[in-house]
This record gives sequence, C-alpha cells and structure tokens, in this order.
Amino acid sequence: MVSQVHLGHIFHIAGSPAARDVPDALADVPDGALIIDDRGRIAFCGTRSDIPDEYRAEKVFDHRPGFLLPGFVDTHVHFPQTFAGDAYGGGQLLEWLELCIYPAESRYAEVEFARSAAAEFCTRRIAAGTTAAMVFGSAFPHAQDALFAETRRRGLRMVGGRGIQTTGEPSAAPLITTEDDAIRLTSEEIDKWHAADTGDVATALLHVAIVPRFSLAVTRRTLDNLGELYDSVRERGVYFHTHLNENNRPGTGEVDTTKHAYGVTTYLDTYDGKFLPGSAVGGKSLLGRRSILAHCVHCQDVELARMAETGTSVAHCPVSQQFLGSGTMPWKRTLASGVTVAAGTDYGGGDEWLIPQVLAAAFKVHISEPGEHGVSMHPAEMLFTGTLAGARALDMENRFGNFDVGKEADFIVVEPARVPALEHTLAQGIRSEDPALARDQTLFALLMGIREPAITEVYVQGRRIDVA
Ligand code: GUN
Ligand code: ZN
Repeated sequence: MVSQVHLGHIFHIAGSPAARDVPDALADVPDGALIIDDRGRIAFCGTRSDIPDEYRAEKVFDHRPGFLLPGFVDTHVHFPQTFAGDAYGGGQLLEWLELCIYPAESRYAEVEFARSAAAEFCTRRIAAGTTAAMVFGSAFPHAQDALFAETRRRGLRMVGGRGIQTTGEPSAAPLITTEDDAIRLTSEEIDKWHAADTGDVATALLHVAIVPRFSLAVTRRTLDNLGELYDSVRERGVYFHTHLNENNRPGTGEVDTTKHAYGVTTYLDTYDGKFLPGSAVGGKSLLGRRSILAHCVHCQDVELARMAETGTSVAHCPVSQQFLGSGTMPWKRTLASGVTVAAGTDYGGGDEWLIPQVLAAAFKVHISEPGEHGVSMHPAEMLFTGTLAGARALDMENRFGNFDVGKEADFIVVEPARVPALEHTLAQGIRSEDPALARDQTLFALLMGIREPAITEVYVQGRRIDVA
C-alpha cells in the first residue's frame, strides 16, 4: 500500500476524552487533509496547507466538497435478523421474538440461505459506513462460518459470536441446543475464528464473543458453564455480549419475567455470577471491559454502578427501543454512572442500518425525556457515541475510532450531493455568527441528514472496501 492523501471537510473526536468533555474534543477541519501511511495508519490529520513536505507528492484523493468522518461503530446488530427488519407481529419484545424472530432466525439452518444472508449483511454494513461492529450471531455454526469468512473477504472489522440458547418457546426449538453443545460449539467458534485473520488479537479484524441470547433463553447451568468458559478465555481477548433490561411492559415484560424466573434482585446479577435465588453467587462473572450489554433501558442504580466498576459498556439502541415500545434509556443518569455508552442499531429490532439514524433517534428521544431529565445532545456527543465511544466499548480505542496520528485508518467519505435534502440543508441552513455554534450546526445537519447514498467510500485500515 502506498501513502494516500484524502482531502475533504474533516470532523472527528480527537484524543480520548471522558464523555462529559467530548464537546471540547470536537475537531473540525473544513479544508482538511487526512494522510494514510503505507501501513494503513493515520500519518497526518490537519489543514491542507499544513501537509508536511514529505507527503506532497503522494497520491491525492480529492473528495471536496465532501466530508471525511471516522467509520461508524455499531455495537449491537443481529446477523440472523438481516431479513427481519420491520417484522410485524403485533406485540412488544417477547411476543415479537416468539412470533417473528425465532422463525426468521431458524431459516439460517439452510446452508445456502445463511451464506446469502452473510453476503447481504456485509453489504448493508458497508453501505451504512459501519466499519466495526459487535455482531449478535446465528445459532448455527455454518452460518457463523459464512459470516466470518465473508467479513474477512470484504475486509471489515467484527466482533461476534453464535447466539446461545438452551431453553425457550416451541418456535425457538431449532435454535436451542443441549447444555453440552452450547459450550462445545462456543469453544469451537473461539478456537476457529478468534483473531483468525492475523493470529494476533492486537492486529486482528476478527474477534469472537460469547453471546447468550438473554437470561430467559438460557439456564442457570448455562450461565455457570459460560462463566467457566469465559474465565478460561478472557486472557485471549474474547468478548461477552448479550441483552439487559430492555423491555418492561407490565405483566409480560422481559425485566420482571427474568427477575421472577431467577429470583434475583437485579437482572444484571444473572450475568454477574449471582444467578441463584436471592442473587446468591453460583458461578463466575461475565462482566468486564470487553463486555457489552444492549439496551439497559430499565437499569437500577446498583446495576449501572456495577457495570461502571467492571468496565462493562452499554449498546444504546433507541431506534429499536421505539420500534419495540421498550422505552427510553435515561441519558443523563446512565452517563452519570460512568459507563461507556455507544450506539447500536439492533437491526432487526431496529429498522435502520445507519448509525447516524440511531444518533438522530437518540437526539429526539432524549430531548423528549420528562422535565429536568430531558437533554439536547451536543452534536459532538452524537458523533462520539457513533464512533469513538464504540471503539472504547470494544476495548479497541487505541486502534481506531478517530483520526489521531498512529491509529488504524477506518474512515468514510460522505458526499452530500448524493442526497439532495442533505446537500440543500448544508448549503442553505441558518448558521450562527458564532463560529463554534455554526460548526456544531453544520455537524448536526450532517449527522441528521446522512442517508446511505451519501456514503460513497468506506475504508478499513486504509484499504478501500468494495461495496459489491
Ligand atoms: N432479547 C433477546 N433476544 C433479542 C433480540 O433478538 N432482539 C432484541 N432487541 N432483544 C432481544
Ligand atoms: Zn438485540
């Protein structure tokens, strides 16, 4: 690879700010240059006139008047729901799973179907500019093989693992395995795919996670066995991923049903080794700095404190929470706990592949929180949540997520002209005389208005990814 100079309007969140300091870390370079070295790393990010002499003769890609942004990070998306967005079953989470999702995911038992789904899943990710993702996988090993192989072929970053289920409704039967198979298949996936592309987690694009669907889809024995398994592979950089406190519909909600089924005081306890009645310790914890829990809409303060203490992160999925009527994750209270909050589409619980649309939903739901809980998210916070916070949640902030020199160059090119509504808003929108506010208004308009056709180029580690 030779060095590349990309020109465009750059926005990114520089450095490694705490969530509350993110607005001060917003970097805005209207006449910007992003230089990628021959190893696919950021060599320079700054104003075009400041390009160091040594790079002046390098290959130049002029994207002006387009934008250069870090690639989006989707910290929660379901591979076996690739064709299940907008699935209608007339109910909230538990009914929707039983009526729509378990049957949709069961179709991946067919090898050819699973293979075509893997191709489509990667295509949708690339179109949305999602360069890194935590992927909730299929129960079927052949489908996971297809997903990892296709992800490697396309050059994307992925953490993912097969969805583990050991109990459930009749419609979930094809997805359920015995206790022994649950552990065997998960260990085999780790051995086969964890860092399989480079053989070293520090450089790999592919990583494996242990992924029980949620506590209601497994047993105490499964959680015990998974705790043992995780303990034995933590040092290898393996991840943990599942759902927590998503839906609390009175009478049939997931949260109360789980607490009742396990007899625990908090839902989080079931993942924290405390899955016996009364939240007594029964096994090892699954929490840690490479653990991401999706939703966290209805957390108690003790749960947020325990997540912060262990370095466990939240995948915030407001598009899905609206689609399934799950409620609104309290933005201020969740962030105040100190946990990292990153964005997730939760496709097909959400009906959008685009992280910017998740950020737009976040803005809308959090400004609508009641009274003093309501907040107008800063555009820099939105960008952070969809990029650097995702890298942090994936424990790879040292590798990607912004344009700091030395990081691996994951970025996208946005051409507003491909989406007229975006182009015209950027050109004609009211902008403040105050340069800082004008900058924030431009970033806000950009994030709210991005649609897939505007994302014209996608790069991971400085390599351009083909859309087809
Ligand atoms: N909880 C358990 N399984 C699922 C799922 O597939 N989607 C969502 N949104 N929540 C879940
Ligand atoms: Zn989900």
